[in-house]
Amino acid sequence: MSVEKLKILVVDDDLFFRKMLPKKLSSKGFIFDTAENGVEALEKLHANPDVELIISDMAMPEMNGLELIKKIRSTGKDVPFIFLTASDQLNTAIEAMTCGASDYLLKDENILRTLSISVDKVLEKHQLKKSNQKLLQDLAAKNKDLEKSNKQLLKLNELKNKFLGMAAHDLRSPLASIRGLSEFLLSEIFGYLTEEQKEYINIINKTSDEMLTLVNDLLDVSVIESGNLDIKPLKTSLISLIKDRIKLYRMSAEKKDTRINFIPEDIPEIFFDPSKIAQVIDNLVSNSVKFSPPGSAIYIHADVDKAMVKVSIRDEGPGISEEEQSRLFGEFQRLSARPTAGEKSTGLGLAIVKKIIDAHHGILEVNSRLGVGSTFSFKLPISND
Ligand SMILES: Nc1ncnc2c1ncn2[C@@H]1O[C@H](COP(=O)(O)OP(=O)(O)OP(=O)(O)O)[C@@H](O)[C@H]1O
Ligand SMILES: [Mg+2]
Repeated sequence: MSVEKLKILVVDDDLFFRKMLPKKLSSKGFIFDTAENGVEALEKLHANPDVELIISDMAMPEMNGLELIKKIRSTGKDVPFIFLTASDQLNTAIEAMTCGASDYLLKDENILRTLSISVDKVLEKHQLKKSNQKLLQDLAAKNKDLEKSNKQLLKLNELKNKFLGMAAHDLRSPLASIRGLSEFLLSEIFGYLTEEQKEYINIINKTSDEMLTLVNDLLDVSVIESGNLDIKPLKTSLISLIKDRIKLYRMSAEKKDTRINFIPEDIPEIFFDPSKIAQVIDNLVSNSVKFSPPGSAIYIHADVDKAMVKVSIRDEGPGISEEEQSRLFGEFQRLSARPTAGEKSTGLGLAIVKKIIDAHHGILEVNSRLGVGSTFSFKLPISND
């Protein structure tokens, strides 16, 4: 530690100490000032506020050491103190320690040696305290900066969602028109089509349908992220909903020779938003069809688990590694498993599923082993109201 040019104030009514102490400590390169009592010490301190250490006698005329430290501490100044005291002043010295003195030393025959050690110790401790304070100040300033950047990021995220929502919303109608008009043409109301024309219009129809799904997903994400996901719960049958939704996937599953097995069980009607939970079932069932190899089986199961209804969708697909499971519910996560028959994959489905289940105060779980298959389950609370 560098102790060069530090200012020390020596306060003592005894001229011997005022002369002797600076002389004995001069080899350490300090600058000294002296005062005869507390009153003079305060004046010196006022003129020289950068004093780094006060070495003071305890018993002095006009203002003693204890009064001096109390006065200085009352101004909030944190300069360290070392008291030199006679044996009959020990109690006062101990009281001075409670006022924040750093050390007290007995004025005996060893005083000059012990003082030299004490000065080094006290200054080192004080420097440490100052650098700690500086670190804390820096940390507080950095925290403030972080808070500011966080606020800016939140604002930007809000703006992104707004933009995403607006763009998706404005793309929806023209895309729906393209899809509708292509269906119209395919119905051959306006005249017969050649095989080649039919093939191209079919592509237009399929592509616009996929784009519409993507745009709807984007709109969902922006609505959910802006905190406006509006759940409209109804007390109804989850089993009927599962049956209805499975019908939609039977055809695409059959094309891949995939069997969807669902044996309905008797579960109570519960409160949930049918259109939102339909989205959840759609994505989980379509995923298990999409990522499983042809010829495999999918098992759907619904039962009561404690105070919740639990729906599980198990497949015999490629499975998902633990590392990828941790990323599964983020947006735009297309992981190692790829569609096995050229189906579309945006990586938004599970992010939406997670948010819908959260909004229902439910639980979404995945259980998966590479090379064996995956089970996605969601649980919804059975509430009595
Ligand atoms: N049952 C599953 N088996 C294996 N991997 C899966 C399964 N379900 C999801 N995944 C992996 O997780 C990724 C994210 O799934 P998610 O449903 O979010 O998106 P997606 O199906 O690719 O696209 P989208 O649902 O938006 O049409 C998938 O791309 C796939 O790699
Ligand atoms: Mg999906």
